[in-house]
Amino acid sequence: MFEMYKFWLYLAIPESSQPSVWFVYPGCTPVKGVHALAPTFHPSQDIPMKTQVCIIGGGPAGLLLSQLLHVKGIDSVVLEKQSRDYVLSRIRAGVLEHGFAKLMHEAQCGERMDREGEVHDGFYIAHQGQLSRVDLHRFSGGNSVVVYGQTEVTRDLYNARDRMKGVVIHNAEDVQPHDLTSDHPYVTYRQGNDTLRVDCDFVVGADGFHGVSRKSIPKTVLKEYEKVYPFGWLGVLSRTKPVSPELIYAQHERGFALCSLRSQVLSRYYIQVPLTDTVEQWSDDAFWAELKRRLPDEVSQRLVTGPSIEKSIAPLRSYVAEPMRYGQLFLAGDAAHIVPPTGARGLNTAASDIHYLYQAMVAHYHHRDSSGLEKYSATALARVWKAQRFSWWLTTLLHTFPESLDYDKQLQQVELAYLFSSEAAQSSLAENYVGLPL
Ligand code: FAD
Ligand code: PHB
Repeated sequence: MFEMYKFWLYLAIPESSQPSVWFVYPGCTPVKGVHALAPTFHPSQDIPMKTQVCIIGGGPAGLLLSQLLHVKGIDSVVLEKQSRDYVLSRIRAGVLEHGFAKLMHEAQCGERMDREGEVHDGFYIAHQGQLSRVDLHRFSGGNSVVVYGQTEVTRDLYNARDRMKGVVIHNAEDVQPHDLTSDHPYVTYRQGNDTLRVDCDFVVGADGFHGVSRKSIPKTVLKEYEKVYPFGWLGVLSRTKPVSPELIYAQHERGFALCSLRSQVLSRYYIQVPLTDTVEQWSDDAFWAELKRRLPDEVSQRLVTGPSIEKSIAPLRSYVAEPMRYGQLFLAGDAAHIVPPTGARGLNTAASDIHYLYQAMVAHYHHRDSSGLEKYSATALARVWKAQRFSWWLTTLLHTFPESLDYDKQLQQVELAYLFSSEAAQSSLAENYVGLPL
């Protein structure tokens, strides 16, 4: 029995915050709470790490799952390709649906979000020089969204993983899942000259759109649906007072614009740009001038400009991969599907995948009930496709398409006019934006 456990000096992980972990010989189920006792070790190829769930990708989806499983006594290891600083330097989502906020609480990570996140009961759509408000609270039956950056969500999840001595391995190169259709899948990765191995019951691919997990599903099994939009979003983060306390989505013939925020002193703005544009082509002055042109006068006159502290271009794409399960591999989040950011659905849909997967894993481990795992792909995809529909609709409503006919432009205006003349249409927008029921 003694020989089944082996501890090694853990030298290979460069992150100073890297928690110590315990390697368990294959075949041994890790003991609940084992990390609290974890000695340091040196990972080695001949002594594989053993865990219940090996999660590829330490973005919000992977970390949230790891944290939720931990709270229920289920062991996981997260393998992240990048350093923690790199992951936390990515500026992405800003709007969280109420279901996401609830899940953060369940994961014991909601405190700072409650303190610093802003509850928004509505947002504006600017069109034809006017501002029209969508009353989310009224039209969704009392729901709202929380404005709290993805970077902060991720930081809170990393802090919680550290606090609970969770295992998150950064700078894991060449991550590769193996034997996915067997009962003994495993994942290998490289650190320096060492190739290391994690044995597990399940592999979760939460490694984003460009990750390796989806690619390990044979092409004969995977059905892909894709739509690439002929434009991107140029985003700027600036330490300036936001132009509006609530978000403004602007439809304009020169192209879409969005005024968002991270706090009362940190603004996030976007403008639609051709796919051929580069960040270098856009000076801060050019960005502010173009943003102002696309906003109603009353808004652009009060816009406070300042130096950008981040500037990037995100292409717009819709994508779904089916199924989201292959053998013992489960895909979650951007690894399986992406949406254009217009409807603020991407991170929120990643979180709903995690909700279904986490419930299914708890039922499997605690009640020997695998029905949730069997149904995971179908259940998750049903909600994914609703998010796809909503994101496509809002993107079509608010963007300027290079090839559009006068007929299409007329329809866009009629659709906007209809939206603000119909409570039913506003209810449809509101219930999708705050998040459809799980
Ligand atoms: P990711 O965040 O991509 O995380 C995947 C992780 O896996 C990364 O850390 C990556 O480094 C790691 N990884 C990749 N490959 C490997 C590998 N081979 N091995 C190991 N690790 C690997 N969504 C919303 O809900 N609301 C919004 O307001 C919103 N706004 C957005 C604005 C913009 C400009 C953009 C671009 C996106 C926005 N989104 C929004 C979408 C949201 O950011 C994504 O849906 C979200 O990041 C998905 O999380 P994820 O954990 O699935 O994937
Ligand atoms: C953001 O603040 O980054 C943001 C907000 C709403 C969106 C997309 C992005 O729809």
